[in-house]
Amino acid sequence: MSNAKTFDQLGFTKTAPDELDRDGNINPFKMIGKDWMLVTAGNESGWNTMTASWGFMGVMWGKNVAVAAIRPQRYTKEFVDKAEYFTLSFFPEEYRSALAFCGKYSGRDRDKAAETGLVPLFAENTTAFEQAETVIVCRKLYAQDMKPECFTDVSCDGQWYPNKDYHTVYVAEILAVYRKKH
Ligand SMILES: Cc1cc2nc3c(=O)[nH]c(=O)nc-3n(C[C@H](O)[C@H](O)[C@H](O)COP(=O)(O)O)c2cc1C
Repeated sequence: MSNAKTFDQLGFTKTAPDELDRDGNINPFKMIGKDWMLVTAGNESGWNTMTASWGFMGVMWGKNVAVAAIRPQRYTKEFVDKAEYFTLSFFPEEYRSALAFCGKYSGRDRDKAAETGLVPLFAENTTAFEQAETVIVCRKLYAQDMKPECFTDVSCDGQWYPNKDYHTVYVAEILAVYRKKH
């Protein structure tokens, strides 16, 4: 028998994507850029996660979407590429060091769950974390590798891609938002 817990058992409430901002204080610049998130894909048979502080939330093709940007060398990219779904998990400040770990080491070399204490939560055909405060379940719609010739400001290319490891940009529909009651 599996000990796996469900979103419901862990105190999460499922909300419609457009209610993400139920308290009127969602600020994606802070949420993604300053607080960071874990991008996770896979399932019980294999998953990986990495810290990300680049990404967006908005509207595209008539859908609520989230965008993640993943460099080619990330192990997580293999899981995101294989899967139809991925999650974005957001945590209370006390997990900052766990997120720093997941952003420093690769799942190829280290067991991120064992070393951080983060517990994977397998649900909705994908993987998130028990300790998250907010989980956004995403379904991939579009993936494109950034190209140097597409920069209209070439200084971004020079500054961020000295190794030519251009991000792949994933635009994904936000299917559900799970938030812990507080
Ligand atoms: C604060 C922070 C933000 C990061 N943001 C991104 C990002 O948006 N995209 C990306 O490809 N890597 C980002 N990284 C780097 C990856 O998290 C890091 O390379 C990680 O070790 C990859 O793990 P993996 O190989 O197990 O996928 C970030 C790292 C940190 C610490």
